[in-house]
Amino acid sequence: MEDPKAIVARHALKYIGDAKLVGLGTGRTVRKLIEVLQEAGLLNGKKVVASSLDTELLIAKAFPDSVLSLVSGSIPDVYFDSFDQLVKGGNSWTLVKGGGGALLREKVLSYSSRRRVFLGEKSKLWEGRTIKVPIEVVPVALSYVLRGLENMKVVAEVREGTGKIGPVLTDNGNVVMDVVVETKDLCHLDKRLKSIPGVIETGVFCEELYDVIILGDPTGNVEIVE
Ligand code: A5P
Repeated sequence: MEDPKAIVARHALKYIGDAKLVGLGTGRTVRKLIEVLQEAGLLNGKKVVASSLDTELLIAKAFPDSVLSLVSGSIPDVYFDSFDQLVKGGNSWTLVKGGGGALLREKVLSYSSRRRVFLGEKSKLWEGRTIKVPIEVVPVALSYVLRGLENMKVVAEVREGTGKIGPVLTDNGNVVMDVVVETKDLCHLDKRLKSIPGVIETGVFCEELYDVIILGDPTGNVEIVE
């Protein structure tokens, strides 16, 4: 049995093509992808824009001159990322992201990249009735947001980190909350959650934010949704 992260990472290589600027998400799968890309020499000579300090540091270590800041507004030819859960609704899929707290920058890059490729393990397919969706919240508005969520009858908790007292802060200095919601219409919910002032973004990625989903399992089976 092989690590499914390595399996999907290898399948993702073909999507890099002749990209000059590569966008990279955050998390363990992306770390594996970086490793595989590096081994294949496919990051050589390319510029990279990353969705988090964590990924940026990783790239800067290997290719100190290739990291572009998000502030540059440069458009990645291809963006690679993973997801925490994948929910099927009719003929489309919805990705839920933000387990690593990088949801806002991840969405900024997915929205603007020319091609968006998400890769992950089949075990991330979600069929439960409820799901945890991360949201990014401006700290000063936290109490108001909590009240807004309560009015919407949404169960929510502020994410706290291990080894740290108080809320986890994102790379943008904001708080992450995990809200528990019904899985039925996550894309509609995304808009409802963002209608609460102070909620900057949610981890719901609807179909306009991805082009390819690569799903793999430890036996080596890979399914590609395009
Ligand atoms: C980061 O905020 C997340 O959106 C990650 O992309 C997602 O959690 C997947 O992470 P893993 O590859 O670590 O499972």
